[in-house]
Order: sequence, then C-alpha cells, then structure tokens
Amino acid sequence: MDFAKELKDQIDIARVVSDYVRLRRFGNRYSGLCPFHNEKTPSFSVYAEHRFFKCFGCDAKGDVFEFVMKIEGVTFWEALKKLAEQSGIPLPKQSAAGDEKTKLRAVIYEMHEIAADHFKANLTGPDGSNVRGYLKGRGVTQQAAMNFRVGLADGSGRTLLRIFEQRGYKPEQMEASGLIGKSEDGRLYDRFRNRLMFPIQGETGKIIAFGGRALDPDERAKYLNSPETEIYKKSHVLYNLNRAKQPAMQLDRIVLVEGYMDVIGATQAGVTEAVATCGTALTVEQIRAMKRHSQNIHLNFDPDAAGEKAAERSIKMLLEEGMRVKVVGLEGGLDPDEFCKEHGPELYRERVSGAKTYFYWLADRARAKFNLRDPQGRNDVFQFLLPAIQALNDKIERVSVANDLASYLGVDSGYVLEHFRKAAADRAERSPAPPPPDPSRATDRILIPLLIAEPEARERLMGDIADIRALKDGAAGTIYAMIVALHQAGETIDFNSLHERLSEADQNLLGGLVLEAATTPSMEDGEACVEALRKDEVEARKRDLKAQIRLAEREGRIQDVFELMRHLAEF
Ligand code: UTP
Ligand code: MN
Repeated sequence: MDFAKELKDQIDIARVVSDYVRLRRFGNRYSGLCPFHNEKTPSFSVYAEHRFFKCFGCDAKGDVFEFVMKIEGVTFWEALKKLAEQSGIPLPKQSAAGDEKTKLRAVIYEMHEIAADHFKANLTGPDGSNVRGYLKGRGVTQQAAMNFRVGLADGSGRTLLRIFEQRGYKPEQMEASGLIGKSEDGRLYDRFRNRLMFPIQGETGKIIAFGGRALDPDERAKYLNSPETEIYKKSHVLYNLNRAKQPAMQLDRIVLVEGYMDVIGATQAGVTEAVATCGTALTVEQIRAMKRHSQNIHLNFDPDAAGEKAAERSIKMLLEEGMRVKVVGLEGGLDPDEFCKEHGPELYRERVSGAKTYFYWLADRARAKFNLRDPQGRNDVFQFLLPAIQALNDKIERVSVANDLASYLGVDSGYVLEHFRKAAADRAERSPAPPPPDPSRATDRILIPLLIAEPEARERLMGDIADIRALKDGAAGTIYAMIVALHQAGETIDFNSLHERLSEADQNLLGGLVLEAATTPSMEDGEACVEALRKDEVEARKRDLKAQIRLAEREGRIQDVFELMRHLAEF
C-alpha cells in the first residue's frame, strides 16, 4: 500500500463513471440511472469528494475500482491497471503481475491485438487485393475499414497458429483465446479461415473477439464468431459501443442494427451512434449497456421475416427495461447497409431522425396480418398489440397510446379503450417508489457529512457530539463514536478513514447519509442541529426529573422530593 490508495485519491470517480453512465451534477453529488439494475428514476449516486458510488435501489456501492470491476467484468488488477494507464500514472513493477486469472486474460487480450494486426496486414498486403476490391464494391471506404480495424484471415488454417507459436504462447493459452481450435486428433488450427474479419471491441476499445464473414459464397456459415472466452461474454457485448457511446450521449439516442456491415454503413452515412447485436437475440445486459448512454433507441433491424420477429421481441424487452423505442422505416426491403449504399447518407439520416414510435410499426404489422373490417380480425389486432401497450409503465401514456392507435387503425376509439382499460386496470404499477427518507435521520444527514468535511465543525461541535445522548443512542451512534474517537486520537477524519473502520451495516448507513446530502451542509445548520438536540436533551431530563418527583411524592419520600426539585430549578 499503497499504490491503489494513492491512485484512488488522484482519480475523479465521477469522470470515470461518466464514461459509462449519463450523470447529472448536484453540487458534490452526481446522480444517474443505475447501470447495475433496471430503474426509471435515478437512485445511483456518485459522491466525488468521497470517491464513492452507491445505488439506493440495488445497493451496489464501492470505490472507483469496484465500479470498473463491476461494469467491465474485470479483476481488481485489471481495473487498477486500466485506471493507472488512463491517468498516465505508471504502475509500480511488482503490481503488474496480479493473479492467475488476470494474467491469462492479459495474454488473451494480447493475442487478440496480435491477431488483429495480422489480419490487417493480410488485408492491406498483396494477398488482400481481391478482398479490398470486395470491400470497395460494397462501398466500404479505406478510412472506414481502418477505423473498424477490418482484416482478413487467410485460408491456410495455420498462419495465426504459427505466429502464436513463434511468440511462445502455450497451447492452453491459444485454445483459451478462442482464436485457435483443436481437432479431435489434438491438432491445433486457426478458427477463422478465408474470412473478412471484424474485431469486436469492449466498451473501452480493447479487442475481445472477432466476427468473420465468409468470403466464399459456398461456405455454409456466412458469419462465424469467436466462442465465449475469459474476456468475451457474448450476451454483454454490443458491436461498436466503444465508438458509438460518445455520440450516443451527445445526441441522446442509439441506433440499434443487426449486423457488422450495417454499423459500418450507418457510420459512413454519419450515423455514428449505431451499435449491433452481432447475431444474438438482444439481451437485458445489452439493453442496460445502452441505457447507460441513452434511453432512446432507434431500432433498425433487417426488414426480412427474421429481422421483424427479432424487432418485435426486442421492442418488448426494451420497453420492459424502461427504454423509449422508435422504429426506423426503410423502404424497398433494404437493410441499413444496403439502404445507405442505394439511397445515400442524407436519406438514411432522414429516416433515422424521422423514426416513428414503435407502436405505429406494430400497428402496421398488425394491419398487414389481420383484416380490420372483420370483428375477429380487430380482436386479433388488439391481442397482437396488447403486450406492447401493457409494457408502458405510465397509465396515462397507455391510454393515450391506445387512442392514437385507434385513429391510426381507423377504428372507433371507444372500442380500443374498452380493450385496453381493463388491461391497464388489471396491471399493478411497476417498480414502486422508493420509501421516503426516515425523518429521524435528518440530524444525521446534516451532522455526519459536516463533521467529515469541515475541520472547523469538528473543532466547534465535537464536545457536544461526544455527550449528547440522543446521538449516542441513535441509529448512527457507532459512527458518531468513531468520529469522536478518531478526533480525540488526532487522526485524519475523512470519508474513507471512517468508512474502513466500520462494520458493513454502519458502512451502508454512512454511505447513505453522506450520499443523501447533495452538498455539504453549512456550519449554521450543524450548530442549529446541536442546539436543538441540546434543548431536546434538557427537556427530556426535565421530564425525567418531574416523573421522579411525582413518584417520590406518591411514596412519601419528602427529602427526595426537595432534592429533585432543587435539580429541576437548576435548568
Ligand atoms: P446478416 O445476414 O443480415 O448479415 O446478419 P449482414 O450484416 O447484412 O452482412 P452482409 O451484408 O450480408 O455482409 C446480421 C448479423 O448477424 C450475425 C452477424 O453479426 C451479422 O452481421 N450473423 C449472421 C451471425 O452471427 N451468423 C450468421 O450466420 C449470420
Ligand atoms: Mn447486409
């Protein structure tokens, strides 16, 4: 120790978190939607001065290392390394090692970098000319190919393997990387052969996997993707989120497409906030990853049957996670990439901006499927649309959507409402509001943050704090006792020094108290609190004396009565 501690002191946790979560600032506190659970109103706080985050919804909490570990799914060492690199602070030698898992992961990352460089060299080298022609024919500029680090895996099935062998990687490491496969007879081979390679990057830009598109039209699998590895959890990753997150935060919108080529096409058309699911069904983790940057999703899946099914399912999930969904309509049955190529960037951008709220899209689907003139058909339409309407959290929104739908579909709005009202009434509201703060904690919310932040407050108030009984006996009694003890011992008092000396329950309490205070309370507030407590204490003692006097009178202890009355008069 302790490099980690030193580093932590130099890092602005709010800045680190804001790479992942859209934060609003309230004095020292930042607030946003929790990246670790599903919520509609922010209960996630970052307390910059105390280098601490906490969610009051799911109770995720910790320091900047814990945040990075949790959100990136990395080990402590990796978080440390990443943050050190980001801040331009060199890691001390001995800490570069880390644990076994971290070491393996580091090796796998390294192998991915090597592979990407190798694939790129293939593409730009003499053997890549056909594939360069293919890319050009598909409208991918050299610049875009470079930005997306597109490459080429040759057909030999051994080239990457040889490179790894030359670099001294062990067979287990090669297998663990997912880039090298092992046949039944135990021989190793390149997983990707004769494919156009798209590196899949994590949110920080590190390559964690590849998607490979077949170049031979007779090849059975059009795309082949890396298997899951130590560094790649398929269901957590969105292709291009590392590049798209910045524009997504700025524009407050994300365009969700299906494929690698769609992302590249959209980006070339100026829609840089595009990400893709990479051939998996959309997952909750992916939705939450997007939600950290924007809650507005413009869905732009392929217009084929599979894409439409996927869109339907995705809309439902997105709504359940509290996202606002629009659907981009592209004419001519084209996917985003094809549309950009055929109609040009302006028109694509227009279609993205002009995307309509999802239920128009659903209504169109319903209209095409069922006959609205027929009563049975109308009923089918509503059954079809019901889940999406039900997924709306807000009752008023549900009714208004139902009304809009009625007029869009050209049916009597009374008829629609009748259908939806019942569903709306049946449905309990999701996610109940968080309980109101405990009023008895009002004093603690002022005094504790103040005592932590202001040395002057400690000087002036510590005597009172030490002997006011209500504080000692209250829920935060141990915290006050610890503050007093540290003060008397002449030790530094700050959030962390206090935090590390408390039990977990008290740590939670402390985190809560400190994080609830939007700004450090004023000295005046602190003094007013102490004065009020003193008064309460005096009143309590008087009440206690009076009770004792009544008891002494009843029992005929006249001496005691006089004695107690003299005490009472002293107040
Ligand atoms: P598409 O078949 O729509 O391909 O699959 P595409 O992206 O439009 O590619 P081009 O234009 O034909 O070159 C969409 C996405 O689904 C995943 C890939 O991520 C692909 O980009 N996919 C598709 C697979 O993972 N495996 C497959 O066999 C097919
Ligand atoms: Mn395509």
